Amino acid sequence: MKIIRAKDYNDMSRKAANIISAQIILKPESVLGLATGSSPLGIYRQLIQWYEKGDLDFSEATSVNLDEYCGLPAENGQSYHAFMRQNFFDHVNLAPHRIHIPDGMAPDPAAECLRYDRIIAECGGIDLQLLGIGHNAHIGFNEPGDFFSKHTHQVALTESTIAANTRFFGRPEEVPRQAISMGMQAITQARKILLVASGADKAEALSASCFGPVTPRVPASILQLHQDVTVIADGEALSKCPL
Ligand code: F6R
Repeated sequence: MKIIRAKDYNDMSRKAANIISAQIILKPESVLGLATGSSPLGIYRQLIQWYEKGDLDFSEATSVNLDEYCGLPAENGQSYHAFMRQNFFDHVNLAPHRIHIPDGMAPDPAAECLRYDRIIAECGGIDLQLLGIGHNAHIGFNEPGDFFSKHTHQVALTESTIAANTRFFGRPEEVPRQAISMGMQAITQARKILLVASGADKAEALSASCFGPVTPRVPASILQLHQDVTVIADGEALSKCPL
């Protein structure tokens, strides 16, 4: 695991965007695993700028997102479909038929999970997986538990995740209680993993994930077993790491 200290959120975002940019330049047909939330926003802004300047071309790339809330249609402004359109997809030239996000409205979530894993397999797996980290060290919506969930699965969000995501909804009651999340198999089989973290509120989770025991109680700790993980974090997020 390579840990890179960024000066601040913008520096973290530019460094991470550079890595994604290099990936696309070296392999234009890359499969990018993408995340939502506050952590990747600056990365998307930077990638859009480079795309607009003509330095980046996503026309051959494929994307697979980590997760989606259950019960929110793609048109709902708080869905992750909408988040990705607003913050990335509407501004770059990824081909719509190569953009994949779990369908939170699928009438049969179990079938949707199987379909999603099939899509990832048919793409040949993920070349570069971008991750944020939750306060409870979740990645995707792989919440702490007794075991690591291997496959894409429906998950009951924890109180900590609901509390953290209330900022996007206004009231905790409005945050969906269930989501569909990519499982640990697809994440850990990604050829490269890039995790970004910013702010003191991520310090505990980051330290436990990078330096604590590998345990499903700390989902991101599984990344210690991966051979190509880069963590880019600012000083506050790294403040509890024994570096
Ligand atoms: C988002 C996702 C989550 C977030 C995590 C951190 O698709 O899968 O694991 O990365 O909750 O969220 P932020 O970046 O908003 O702090």
